Amino acid sequence: MPVSMEELVRLCKTRGFVFPSAEIYGGFRSTYDYGPLGVLMARNVKEAWWRSMVQLRREVVGLDAAVLSSPRIWEASGHLDNFTDPLVDCRSCKQRWRADQLPVAEGSAPAVPGQPVYTCPNCGGHDFTDARPFNLMFKTFAGPVEDEGSVAYLRPETAQGHFVNFANVLQTEHLRPPFGTAQVGKSFRNEITPGNFVFRTREFEQMELEYFVPPSESAKWFEYWCNERFEWYVHFGIPRDMLRLRHHDTEELSHYSAGTADVEFSFPWGWGELEGIANRTDFDLRAHSAASGQTLEFYDPNSNERYIPHVIEPAAGVARTMMAFLIAGYDVDEVGGEQRNVLRLHPRIAPYQVAVLPLSKKDTLIPLAEEVLAMLQPVAMCDFDVTRAIGRRYRRQDEIGTPLCVTIDFTSLEDKAVTVRDRDTTAQERVPLDNLVEHISARLAW
Ligand code: GAP
Repeated sequence: MPVSMEELVRLCKTRGFVFPSAEIYGGFRSTYDYGPLGVLMARNVKEAWWRSMVQLRREVVGLDAAVLSSPRIWEASGHLDNFTDPLVDCRSCKQRWRADQLPVAEGSAPAVPGQPVYTCPNCGGHDFTDARPFNLMFKTFAGPVEDEGSVAYLRPETAQGHFVNFANVLQTEHLRPPFGTAQVGKSFRNEITPGNFVFRTREFEQMELEYFVPPSESAKWFEYWCNERFEWYVHFGIPRDMLRLRHHDTEELSHYSAGTADVEFSFPWGWGELEGIANRTDFDLRAHSAASGQTLEFYDPNSNERYIPHVIEPAAGVARTMMAFLIAGYDVDEVGGEQRNVLRLHPRIAPYQVAVLPLSKKDTLIPLAEEVLAMLQPVAMCDFDVTRAIGRRYRRQDEIGTPLCVTIDFTSLEDKAVTVRDRDTTAQERVPLDNLVEHISARLAW
């Protein structure tokens, strides 16, 4: 069921997924904090990515590089010169905008024939300065002296950490192309116009794979990763008709890319990028090799084969993926004549997999309920809720996407069994305590 942005933001705030950062001070420049449920869900998104990209592959290893990084990295990678967006000022209200994201004023006569007229989203004006390049990297100083020698950058992508560690990884892991390094971590971009909730922020988490391949195989692996990554979103519950793969035109390509395709999702405001899959060729390894004087190539002493691998890079964002799962999973249906809100999240993506619910707060049920909780905690993230009537507790769990509720009632004390309720069908099943862990584990299969 379609969900509006207002409803999504409300749900995230009231249920503890995402809070505006520094809210008690009126917020801070489109930054957000993840609450108790958001942090669980984000961990699950990253775990699902890591499982498919690292755990289930022989040829991919993990990495966690520094956020604070040397200007030499960004000089060599081309980011100091090229990682820019076009910035314009509105001449009426002086607000600054990204030129390529300004809305076009329909029906206005262009001052320059053939050039569209743009509208300032703040004051409605149409008069802007010429666009100038604005570098998106956050600059800071490492150490107590603030001078040119202590300049450092917060990384704007995790990717360069893979390239500068290429030789280290090759040496320690004895890999041969095709092989990959995977990394999940924060990146920072001084976006001119952040917006659409957590879709575009200045601080965000990326999940990036750099896949090093023989140059002659780059087209094959580019296609492979486009397909793999598209199907990953489908596997975790996004309907195919809410996804599309869009290939970039030549003018849209990043400075390092010979070909890029985006996995896009149908957001409430239109199609938006979830992930980019880029063919980075040997651009980065060659550039770092030239700038550092180090040899960054693959060499096989047995065959005397020697080459700089090409790189295929699937790069996804944690917040955008979370948003897509929340939007695709949002539903409103009717249960027992009453409307209910339900988040149909994949069991491995939902914040809690199980809610343990003693039917009553009476002392007689609590010890058994706590026993059940202790049995299930090693296999699932569990919520434990003793407040309010059972129907209202089911509604809460439905609204936050918990796939299974385990209810302990007075009969449980005698028959040593509990009721397992399914979020999507609301069907209930009596399960003996002896089988409970096995039963729940099977229902939470990846
Ligand atoms: N290393 C390649 C790279 O960084 P990108 O397309 O700029 O490519 C990859 O970023 C992913 O990171 C995007 O598809 C998006 O999911 C996420 N991302 C990028 N900028 C973002 C921002 N300002 N806010 C939130 N997520 C962002």
